[in-house]
Amino acid sequence: MTDFSGTYYSDSRGDTLELARRFAADIEPGDVIAMYGDLGAGKTVFVSGAAKALGFDGFVTSPTFAIVNEYQGGKYPIAHFDMYRITDENDLFSTGFYDYLDMGFVMFIEWSENIEYAIEDSFIKITFSGSGDERRTITIEDGRFSR
Ligand SMILES: Nc1ncnc2c1ncn2[C@@H]1O[C@H](COP(=O)(O)OP(=O)(O)OP(=O)(O)O)[C@@H](O)[C@H]1O
Ligand SMILES: [Mg+2]
Repeated sequence: MTDFSGTYYSDSRGDTLELARRFAADIEPGDVIAMYGDLGAGKTVFVSGAAKALGFDGFVTSPTFAIVNEYQGGKYPIAHFDMYRITDENDLFSTGFYDYLDMGFVMFIEWSENIEYAIEDSFIKITFSGSGDERRTITIEDGRFSR
C-alpha cells in the first residue's frame, strides 16, 4: 500500500479525474474516504474518476436527494454519500451508513463535516479548495497507516 498523502493541484476537471484514477489504484475494500470542501469544489468529480478506475462503468452523480448511491460491478462495491443534509445520528443511521461499513464497501463521503463523530481514525481525508474556474488544491491525508 502506497501512502498517497500530499498536496495536489488541479487545473481542470480532467486533472481531478486523473488524480482520482491514480489514487484509486491503492484503494482497498473497507477504505473510508472522507471528503471536505465547498459546493462545486470537485468532490463528485473525484469520486467519478475513482469509481471508473475501480471498474464501475455507470454514471456517478451527487447523491443529493438519495443521500447514498451504490456503485456495483467493479473491483469492489462502493457507497457514495452526500451528508449535506444529515444533521444527527438517527439520520445517519437511516442512510445505512453503518451497514455499508460492516459490509466492507469502499466509502466515499461528501460533506464529512456533518458526520465526523462516526468516522474512525484510519480514514483517508481529502480536502478540496477552489471553485468556479480556479485552480483546485486537493490535499490527501492517508490515515490508513495508523491502523
Ligand atoms: N480543477 C477542477 N476539478 C474538478 N472540477 C472542476 C475543476 N475545474 C472546474 N471544475 C468544475 O467544477 C464542478 C465541480 O462539481 P462537483 O459536483 O464535483 O462539486 P462537489 O464538490 O461535489 O459539490 P457539491 O458539494 O455540490 O456536491 C464541475 O462542474 C467541474 O466541471
Ligand atoms: Mg458533490
